[in-house]
This record gives sequence, structure tokens and C-alpha cells, in this order.
Amino acid sequence: MRGKDYMAVLRAVTEVMGEAIHIVDASGKTILYNEAMAQLEKISVEDALGKPFRQVFGNIPESESTLYQALVNRQEIRNKQQTYLNIYGKQVTTINTTIPIIVDDRVVAAMEVARDITELKDMSDKILSLQDSISAGSRDESLDAKAGAAVGAEPGTVRTGPGGIRQYHFSDIIGEDPGFLQAVDRAMRATTNTASVFIYGETGTGKELFAQSIHYGGKRQNKPFLAQNCAAIPESLLEGILFGTEKGGFTGAVDRAGLFEQANGGTLLLDEVSAMPYELQSKLLRVLQEKYIRRVGGSKDILVDVRIIATVNETPQELIERGALRPDLYYRLNVIGITLPPLRERRGDIPILADRFIKKYNDEYEREIWMIAEPALEKLKNYSYPGNVRELENIIMSAVSMAEEEHVLTERDIMLQQEYHESHSRVSEFSQEGESLAEYLAGIEQSVIRQYLTSNGGNVTKTAKDLGMLRQNLQHKLKKYEIV
Ligand SMILES: Nc1ncnc2c1ncn2[C@@H]1O[C@H](COP(=O)(O)OP(=O)(O)OP(=O)(O)O)[C@@H](O)[C@H]1O
Ligand SMILES: [Mg+2]
Repeated sequence: MRGKDYMAVLRAVTEVMGEAIHIVDASGKTILYNEAMAQLEKISVEDALGKPFRQVFGNIPESESTLYQALVNRQEIRNKQQTYLNIYGKQVTTINTTIPIIVDDRVVAAMEVARDITELKDMSDKILSLQDSISAGSRDESLDAKAGAAVGAEPGTVRTGPGGIRQYHFSDIIGEDPGFLQAVDRAMRATTNTASVFIYGETGTGKELFAQSIHYGGKRQNKPFLAQNCAAIPESLLEGILFGTEKGGFTGAVDRAGLFEQANGGTLLLDEVSAMPYELQSKLLRVLQEKYIRRVGGSKDILVDVRIIATVNETPQELIERGALRPDLYYRLNVIGITLPPLRERRGDIPILADRFIKKYNDEYEREIWMIAEPALEKLKNYSYPGNVRELENIIMSAVSMAEEEHVLTERDIMLQQEYHESHSRVSEFSQEGESLAEYLAGIEQSVIRQYLTSNGGNVTKTAKDLGMLRQNLQHKLKKYEIV
């Protein structure tokens, strides 16, 4: 094949892949500039092709041109975020990878691949501006809780504070179980210092409740408390949200403080820290050790004093084994480690929690429930609570709002998940008449699978995950029970 044909093949490949691509040869002349790149930079393919780099991109100094650096210094840059104005003055944000192409130890070309993330970037800017406005609002005593709650619903970022959204204290934490009290005790001791805290607990076990109680119970209570769910933000934006952004060598980029700067003097809660990209985890570790941050695209080191509380909802051991959590970061964060037991492992606390929630929802729904009937309480005590305390609270909330009797919650008011009804009604149904235990268990298995499959809209992968089994095993059982 001739060189020209190779180029045609290459061009066709890049157009199909959809990534914006720009390749220059050793002399800096553009030899490939595809349609996606033309869209991004608003320079036509004809204008760029065959021209020396400097002629087309004269406004970019060589020291700041990643392509030029790749050609001359063999410098490789992967996944670097850049914000700049295209020639129409529109601000564009891209994630770029630039590599020198080396043959027989000679740099024969350099290639840049860019992905347009302008829309994602706009979203992250919006979140950070909201942060700013809530923070201004939270200093204003007139801001009511409702306005705060509405803003708190933005993807993953929550600020609490006076007049703000939620503010939990140790007095809100209910529980007498010895294992649970140990966790409370550790959390209380954490209020006397500013060491990092690492909280592990399943969903709904009270991680946020503990994190806020630690913050508002300590010396930092009048400083900001910020929370970021690391799983709720696209990976490429998280770094800018945490550390802020600064215009690089390009004009027009936004200078903005990230959560570390905004939380300065206070506490930053990093929820689901294991969802943070591995590379960013090592950057976070450096920040914790050195106590200063650098904005994305910036060159200035900024001293920050932020207490970190990190949470996960799988065991740290599992997360480390799976490669989701860096062990070095974990050891650095786990100065004060707190494990919150699931509700099913502290069933003794169910009655007092239920009581507290009845009082809360009596007020909210203007009801006068005084007690829980014994069978209703038994039902509550025997349930497994995959959603832990949050689930119990929801069960009581709907029971109080819908209670048939005036002053008593009865068994009929307590609505548990289907799964419970199914397996328990079967237990009482088990008559042993001609049915072996194995057949009987198979029947339960079959009905649980059917329910999960239905509620997941027939999605086998999701159902297997929910049931904690391998997809292949589930498929095998679906065949066996002739479900599909
Ligand atoms: N020990 C407790 N006493 C009183 N209320 C509790 C307790 N634990 C949890 N709750 C309540 O349960 C709900 C869930 O708690 P929280 O948001 O702290 O859980 P979480 O562990 O952060 O959950 P997730 O992992 O889903 O974010 C909240 O309404 C909280 O007030
Ligand atoms: Mg939480």
C-alpha cells in the first residue's frame, strides 16, 4: 500500500472512532486533522492540513503546546484536562492525550487525541457555584431549611450549616448495643482532635450522622462542613471539584476554588472514597501528607487545613483486594477507624429506634400513636433490614402516616419488603406433607429470584448482583426453574 493509502485508512479509522485527532510529522507539519478535531477547535480540515503548526496555531506559545513538547522533548501527556477559548470565543474543555510516535529511536510524529467534555465541565462549574451561593446563604440566618434542601439535591455535593440543610449531633444518635456504643465512643473522642476519620458501614447505618456529629461536636463546628459523594461525579471532574481549577496557559479558563479551599478550617466528608480514581487517590494522599493543594492547571501551592472524614460501604479489606482503594491512602485515613454495625446485628436497638421515629412522625403527620402492638414489634424485630436504620425509619414513617388505629401501630401497618412476606409466609405454610426440605427451599429460592428479576425489569446481571451470586449461577437456576 502507498503512503497516501495508509493515511486514508488512518483517517477513516479516526472518523469512525469519534475521537478528535491531530497528528504532526517530525517537522511540525499537520499530516492528519480529522473532522472531530475541526469541530472542536473550529479550524477547518483544509486550513490545518499540510501547514506548519506555527502557521495555524500561532497564538499558542511552543512551550505550552503539548504537540510541540511531544515532538521536541518526547514528552508524553496522558488525560490532561485543558480549558481554552476556540476562535469563536467559546470556552471548550477537553481531556487530552499527547504522545510522541517513535520509530528506531527517532521521533517521527506526534499525536494528540482529545475528548470534548465541555458539557461535563459546565456541570461541575454549576455545582461549585451553587456551593458558593449556599455558603453565602448559610451565613444568612433567613435562609430556610427548604431552600437548602433543594440545593442539596444537586449531584453529590452537600453543604450543611446554620440555616442550611441538615445538622446532626450526638444527641440524634440512638442505640444501646455494646458494639454500637463503642463506635459512638470512638466518634466522641474524635471531636477532641482533627485526625482523619474512616467510617465503614453498610448503606443507612448512620455514616453521615456520625460524620456530622463529629464535626459539629468539635472545635470546628463554626467552620464549614462539606460533603462530596465521590461516586456521584464523573471521574474526570472530581479532581477539579476537590482541588479547584485555574486557567492554564490559555486565556478564558475559569479560576475557581475547589472543595478543599472552600472547606478550609472545617471538615470535608468524602463519601464512597473508594469510587475515586486510583490516580486521584494518590494525589489525595499527597495532599493529606503535605497539607497543601494545587488547583488543576495551576502552579501555586495553597496551604489548606481540612479535616477529612472518609466513608465506604464495603469492608476496606474487600476494597483493597479488589483494587478499588489504595492501601496507603486507607492507612493514612484510618487514623480513627469507626465501624458501624448493620441493624440486623444490633436488633436490640430496634424498639428504641422505632420509638424515636414514631415521635418524629407523630409531629410531622399530626398523629398520636402511643405504642406498637406486640405482634407488630415482633415483625419489626425479625426483619433483616438491607437498608438498615434508614429502612426502619421509612417503615415507621409510612406506618405512622397510614396507621388504621388512632393510638396503636398494628402488624398490618408494618409494611416490609416483599421478600420478607414471601419467605415467612412459606415458613408457616411448611406442612411437610410429601414435600422434602430441599424441595421446599427450592420453592423459596425460585420465588425470590422471580421477584428480584421482575423488580429489575428482567435484567439478569443486576439481579445476580442484588442476590450476591454469579451471573452464570443465576442463569443456570433460571433454566432449572424454567423462569425464562
Ligand atoms: N443510630 C441512629 N440513630 C438515629 N437515626 C439514625 C441512626 N443511624 C441512622 N439513622 C438515620 O438513618 C438515616 C440514614 O443515615 P445516614 O444518612 O447517616 O446513613 P449512611 O450510612 O450515610 O447511608 P448511605 O451509605 O446510604 O449514605 C438518617 O435519616 C439517619 O438520621
Ligand atoms: Mg451517607
